[in-house]
Amino acid sequence: MTDLSKKHIVLGLSGGIACYKAAELCRALVKQGATVQVVMTEAAAQFITPVTMQALSNRPVYVSQWDGREPNNMAHINLSREADAILVAPASADFMAKLLHGRADDLLSLMCLARPLDKVPLLLAPAMNREMWAHPATQRNMAQLQADGAQVLGVGQGEQACGETGDGRMLEPAELLQELVALFQPKLLKGKQILISAGPTYEALDPVRGITNLSSGKMGFALASAAHEAGAQVTLVAGPVALATPHGVRRIDVRSALDMHAAVMAQAAQADVFIATAAVADWRPAQVAVEKIKKDGNGSMPAIQWQENPDILAELAASPRAQSGALFCVGFAAESHDLQAHAQAKRLRKGVPLMVGNIGPATFGADDNALLLMDAQGSTEWPRATKLALARQLVAEVARRLK
Ligand code: CTP
Repeated sequence: MTDLSKKHIVLGLSGGIACYKAAELCRALVKQGATVQVVMTEAAAQFITPVTMQALSNRPVYVSQWDGREPNNMAHINLSREADAILVAPASADFMAKLLHGRADDLLSLMCLARPLDKVPLLLAPAMNREMWAHPATQRNMAQLQADGAQVLGVGQGEQACGETGDGRMLEPAELLQELVALFQPKLLKGKQILISAGPTYEALDPVRGITNLSSGKMGFALASAAHEAGAQVTLVAGPVALATPHGVRRIDVRSALDMHAAVMAQAAQADVFIATAAVADWRPAQVAVEKIKKDGNGSMPAIQWQENPDILAELAASPRAQSGALFCVGFAAESHDLQAHAQAKRLRKGVPLMVGNIGPATFGADDNALLLMDAQGSTEWPRATKLALARQLVAEVARRLK
């Protein structure tokens, strides 16, 4: 099962240079198991050919409302009734202005107007020059389109095809894919604020060396994605990792355990849930050398004095908000052996209602994992699956416990 299997997506393209990104998006949707029906405006066909979109979607493309291929000659009805969702990417300023007024003089706008409002979600991915984006007319139109039931997605920021720099770029295909996948996930954490720590920490010894660990951050990032998909507002405090920020997630980068401690504590007052997936260094060098430590020629490493780092999870679990039930804390226990005994002991030591055990060396850096959930009642094994699948399962478990 892929994320969009059995989903039928109508991908609409209106006129704009971002049409080139729609080709990659189409491919990504198909790869995730969706069937994709492309509908283009005449203007879109100036930017990318229907032939390209047909080859990528493996289906004939619709451009005209007078398309004789439909036996009843009602492409706008047939196409919109089959869809699990309609995504217009790019949605030009002109196309959105048209939709807002309920105008329907081309197939794409006609089909959007004819869609069953309560059954077929409409997502719009705006793409335009920064001045057009900032114009009060565009902003007004988007607010009204949202009020009329469309989901207007955000835009990217940066260099634009016109040579200017600012807001208005269409979201990247990977981001649009995440939005579409999220659309079909149950909104179990709607209105909740989720704080997640992820990745390793790096404890400097001197300006060029330090100690860290093998945590890749993948489990924490998967949880951030899953919580966002479930409708939560997610803040991800990440140690040094080379992972892309999941779309829609607020990320705070930190390096040391002390930085992570400060960042988590600063965010915790608003959080409903704290999930600690980070592999926080237990100790840091008591002193960080200002200059690189040099070999002294006697063959031995200079002695290092260590100082214990604060335990972020234990501290938050003991806080008044956690004790009163306003903040639900979940820990991760990375062990190398005797998982059950160590994870349960750790749960009690840290004072958390739920501890998720895993064998660290078997999962660090991998895309899958197997988990052991420990609570006051005992343990439950979750067999090996992708980290994203396990993250979605854990999000559902946390949501159930919040009730
Ligand atoms: N944790 C934390 N702050 C620390 C150490 C750990 O918040 N200074 C959190 C981790 O994010 C994880 C849980 O505590 O959710 C357990 O971390 P782990 O490294 O498995 O355990 P330790 O407490 O470090 O114990 P030990 O090294 O003895 O296994």
